[in-house]
Amino acid sequence: MSMTKLFSPGPVMVKDNVRRSLLHYDICHRSREFEEMFVDTQAKILKLFNADDTYDSVIVSGSGTSSNETVLSSLFCEGEAVMLIRNGMFGERLLEIIQKYEIPLVDCEFPWGTYPDVAVIEKMMAEHPEVKVVAMVFHETCTGMLNPVSEVGKLCAKYGKILSVDCVSAAGGQNIDVVENNISIATSVGGKCVGAYPGSAYICAKRDLLESLTAKQCKNVYLSLYKHYQSAKNSHQTPNTPNVNLFWPLNVALTNIIEDETLAGRIERYERCAAIIRKGLTDMGCRLLLNEHMASMVTSVFLPAGVDAQTFLDEMEVRGYTFYIGKGDYAKQNMIQVANMGEIYEQDCYNMLEVFGLVLNKLKG
Ligand SMILES: Cc1ncc(COP(=O)(O)O)c(C=O)c1O
Repeated sequence: MSMTKLFSPGPVMVKDNVRRSLLHYDICHRSREFEEMFVDTQAKILKLFNADDTYDSVIVSGSGTSSNETVLSSLFCEGEAVMLIRNGMFGERLLEIIQKYEIPLVDCEFPWGTYPDVAVIEKMMAEHPEVKVVAMVFHETCTGMLNPVSEVGKLCAKYGKILSVDCVSAAGGQNIDVVENNISIATSVGGKCVGAYPGSAYICAKRDLLESLTAKQCKNVYLSLYKHYQSAKNSHQTPNTPNVNLFWPLNVALTNIIEDETLAGRIERYERCAAIIRKGLTDMGCRLLLNEHMASMVTSVFLPAGVDAQTFLDEMEVRGYTFYIGKGDYAKQNMIQVANMGEIYEQDCYNMLEVFGLVLNKLKG
């Protein structure tokens, strides 16, 4: 087994029982056993989002992007527009989907790493009655910034908009209360904060919204929210042959959270680990990208001048630690990302920091 510690924002370290569940004996996705596991997983997804019984969930065989594409390709009828609030790479990924499906767009763009101005958002919302859905990212992973979801949720209630939130890098690591924050649709995937594998995406949505969908308005054949919801509702199954083997780890990881660690306990662990990492890095003289609105599972940090980021990552990888290089222009600015998603504990952070310091000193010369 690999001894590498993934301090990357997905894929993540998983618990042994999650890994072992990959070896579950073969079952058919049209069997009673699958249906029971499917229903159990759906219920646990709702708990992850603090959803009440006005919500339902579906599971999509695909990466996080597939859940976002399912939502954005399914919600709009002719002439209905989306308002996109974006401030980073994953907001741009939503933009790419919106443009591909030619959905009329009100683009509320902020520079990468800038906290969205709620007054600007409100002005745009008020000026655009054609907007049906407001889309945004809960945790913009490319910077580690938490966006103002609760404020936008209140505005969506005031202006009668549907709020759709990409929670891919937040679910299971931040407290997401879909009811309190007026979120009508939330997306995520197993291979991030819940500690399962990539490729097991899921969507939690208001049931009345799911009920209102028609087959015709869904523009994608495979990623149809209408089909996924109807199959889940009528047969506790998926419309096509799903990645059955990845359903087990998703189910086990969610069970670990809900019945063992607890969601609150997991969120607190993430906060403790992020605090250790941030103190350790700043004590070594590294500058963090953000000072506020930081999520508790991704730390974006600039390496000191003279230390090449890619060389540093290579040296760390040889020593068993995997990070990410900064996205876009951040890479040129020598920024890396240190994540503490999945099964990363306090002692892992201290151990990592020790090696981090050694490599930094070696490269500083
Ligand atoms: C916020 C956010 N949205 C979407 C994605 C895309 O997820 P995937 O790579 O699983 O398709 C990511 C991946 O890191 C993400 O962080």
